[in-house]
Amino acid sequence: MNSRTVQRIIEAVPTSDGAGVKLRRSLGQSAWARLDPFLMLDHFSTDNADDYIAGFPAHPHRGFETVTYMLDGHMRHEDHLGNVGELKSGGVQWMTAGRGIIHSEMPQQDAGRMRGFQLWINLPAAEKMKPAGYRDIQANEIPVVMLPGGARVKVIAGTLDVNGAITPGPIQGLATDPLYLDIELPAGATLTHPIKPGYHAFVYPFEGSVTVGPAGAARTLEAHHAGVLTDGDAVELAGGVAGGRVLLLAGKPLLEPIVQYGPFVMNSREEIEQAMSDYQRGALTEAHP
Ligand code: CO
Repeated sequence: MNSRTVQRIIEAVPTSDGAGVKLRRSLGQSAWARLDPFLMLDHFSTDNADDYIAGFPAHPHRGFETVTYMLDGHMRHEDHLGNVGELKSGGVQWMTAGRGIIHSEMPQQDAGRMRGFQLWINLPAAEKMKPAGYRDIQANEIPVVMLPGGARVKVIAGTLDVNGAITPGPIQGLATDPLYLDIELPAGATLTHPIKPGYHAFVYPFEGSVTVGPAGAARTLEAHHAGVLTDGDAVELAGGVAGGRVLLLAGKPLLEPIVQYGPFVMNSREEIEQAMSDYQRGALTEAHP
């Protein structure tokens, strides 16, 4: 086994997005902080309604996918296609912006806890202009696996593989072949998981801490510190002194140029200018001749 280690750490920085929703951004805080095919990871976590009540009013996307994972709370998605989706505790919305979507994500609560993540995953050039689509995945469609030693894993995308015992998640078959696991590790509990060589991978602890890497080369990551991993064919994780809960993400890099302007992520400057002009004339979501 060629065990991956922590290559660099991206500390999540406080920021706000939408109409003033407070969040922490690790990946995506700068062009340096991307990890092909992952463009951005935002983490929102608050008990204070003022931090989320303004929500994310109507806004566009083109050229990538957004994955919203709600830990606690309730948001409603509405889009230009007339879709309405409820994002509730433990559920996931997987949205493919493709050539264009205009949507809003608004809180359906005026008090209480709101916690979760939004991940942006790039699309290959060949898929950037496909029609938009989305899928709501309810909490009960996401497998939860209890492992010997006390680890608990939710399998959102890709396949959990513990010593050959496999559990597929609901999202499969994308060009970037993402692995998206939510892993809870009591103090000292361990999990070794394969990651395909060449795939880019990172770990994001959001409760407690986690130790990453083999004995002798392990590093402890505290909450809100994304650890980008070296190449290899597996990762070894262990719960920190008070346990930890982490996202483990891996995907096949696209190795294509990235040009981003806000919510548009394309391969060239010309395509970004096209997106802006399409949006301004109300044609973002239409097929090009
Ligand atoms: Co959005």
